[in-house]
Amino acid sequence: MKRQTWLLTGGAGYIGAHVADAMSRAGRDVVVVDDLSTGRPERVPGDVELVACSVLDTTALAEVMTRRRIAGVIHLAAKKAVDESVDRPLHYYHQNVHGTASVLQAMSMAGVRRMLFSSSAAVYGVPPGGPVTESTPTAPINPYGATKLICEWLVRDAAPALGLSWISLRYFNVCGAGTPSLGDPGVTNLLQLTLQALAQGVSPKVFGQDHYTADGTCVRDYIHVSDLADAHLAAADHLERQDARTSYNVGCGRGSSVLEVLSAAERITGIRVPYEVTAARPVDPANVVADPARIHQDLDWEAKHDLDSMVRSAWEAWQYSHTPYQHHSALTGP
Ligand code: WQD
Repeated sequence: MKRQTWLLTGGAGYIGAHVADAMSRAGRDVVVVDDLSTGRPERVPGDVELVACSVLDTTALAEVMTRRRIAGVIHLAAKKAVDESVDRPLHYYHQNVHGTASVLQAMSMAGVRRMLFSSSAAVYGVPPGGPVTESTPTAPINPYGATKLICEWLVRDAAPALGLSWISLRYFNVCGAGTPSLGDPGVTNLLQLTLQALAQGVSPKVFGQDHYTADGTCVRDYIHVSDLADAHLAAADHLERQDARTSYNVGCGRGSSVLEVLSAAERITGIRVPYEVTAARPVDPANVVADPARIHQDLDWEAKHDLDSMVRSAWEAWQYSHTPYQHHSALTGP
């Protein structure tokens, strides 16, 4: 079968690099568009074309899509820090919402008919309780989550007019690394903050221990970035074979509390520093765990990695990126 070429916006980022690798290994050609504001060129495989431009540059996007005869777009490029979205809502709406409109406009200009959109569990805000399904009411509680929901609506509403097939993937809590060189460069989420604290010999912080959960700390559905990348491959396969217009939760379906994550981190790093319970966040859902039944049923995908695997790979990546000699040797060879 002719190799299909997919365009990956944000493909030089943490998640994007894993998606690019999975797509390449599955026999797809990939073109990466990334403004390199947070993405890094060295994350893009050597045989993958990297176009350094913003998704807001509609003409440049349309040119690449036409020139490379793109079969579909995986739109990952977005701002994704919750706290920053509260401080800079207009920037988030411009980059995320206007950026998605620009990608859709370019697809219309180039006649590209498949869209795989990177969404988030943040669209659910504080879910009412129990496993989160795709019919759980969407009620985002921060500008970041709101932009993701609005982008889903943009894609949904553009589809009939543009003749689009689309799948939105609602990521739960992504962590880990497929290889040590592709670790999460950000230190904003629980696992990265915990590894940083342990590496520095300071107390990991627990944001409240009075939540309505078994051990009083918040429960989340952590998913290995490699499993997430495979979910994109399964969705792209599906879109190549048939029409679709739907969203899927991408999680493992199991919850882990903050204390369970800390315990795994101490066990795997071998570093034990007593944690410090600090004030809970103003709004922090006690329990956000996916029901991944639909993606399993429709796309034959399920997560394979457990929490220890996520923590171990994240720790290996942390050491890789914080050990100059090892990094140097990786660059210069033996
Ligand atoms: C997890 C839990 C904290 C740090 C994420 C992000 C974003 C989004 C998905 C993509 C919370 C607690 C945290 C710490 C702690 N991704 N915590 N001590 O809040 O589920 O949000 O949702 O769309 O990645 O918005 O993830 O990792 O920030 O926190 O106790 O030092 O750990 O209160 O309950 P969260 P998180």
